[in-house]
Amino acid sequence: MPENRVNVRTFRKRKEQGEKIVMVTCYDATTAAACHAAGVDALLVGDSLAMTVLGYRNTLPLTMEEALHHTRAVRRGAPDAFVIFDMPFMSYQAGDDEALRNAGRALKEAGADAVKLEGGRELDGLISRLVDSGIPVMAHIGLLPQRIQTSGTYRITGRTPEAAAKLLEDARAVEAAGAFSVVLECMPADVGKMLSEALTIPTIGIGSGVHCDGQVQVLNDLLGLFEEFTPKHARRYAELGKLIRQALRAYADDVRNRNFPGPENSF
Ligand code: KIV
Repeated sequence: MPENRVNVRTFRKRKEQGEKIVMVTCYDATTAAACHAAGVDALLVGDSLAMTVLGYRNTLPLTMEEALHHTRAVRRGAPDAFVIFDMPFMSYQAGDDEALRNAGRALKEAGADAVKLEGGRELDGLISRLVDSGIPVMAHIGLLPQRIQTSGTYRITGRTPEAAAKLLEDARAVEAAGAFSVVLECMPADVGKMLSEALTIPTIGIGSGVHCDGQVQVLNDLLGLFEEFTPKHARRYAELGKLIRQALRAYADDVRNRNFPGPENSF
């Protein structure tokens, strides 16, 4: 294993040293190679794959096979990256044995380094079992997109003192269960700060303020590939959607005007 390859200990060390952890979602070999070359610390094959790449309306339909297929591609594109497999809806909720088998497949069949699960206290037994079996777990609390049918909406969590206290309980439970890190999704920045200070494991924020120990963003939001709106938690660093359309219009014009292929493209 290369000396500087990120692993679960790197996460803890970064927090101890006050160095931020950079994570993005990633779904294919090409962007995995680009993310790794850009120095991103960890690639999350998020179940957002369902919406960003596969065209589903939410994350629920994603299957284990689809998630494994894309994780293998990410691993091929970035052989030395730290890759996290986001467990699809219903791959871990129906029982711990099935969850263990599915998480094991992520490591054995797709080359993931760790798995991520959505949930807090209610998952502490499962998290311990996975970790005791040798599977590193990143937890995920706050807004839980896999609960969209029971919550009815994607809403900010932890706005009241009671709700913030519940998040703290969740955070402490997943830490005690052995999670090496925890995603904090969409909570007020002061709650993100409070949780980050309370835990010894690093927090990875998305929409949870600058005090989290690291940040994760959806690649398509960062690159301007999702154009309907920019989520409040995201910042666009490129306008690839526009660039792609411009390039394809130029290609179509060239074909129609007989400017492509040119002599240099012909044999
Ligand atoms: O699937 C995903 O993209 C995620 C991140 C938003 C954390 O879970």
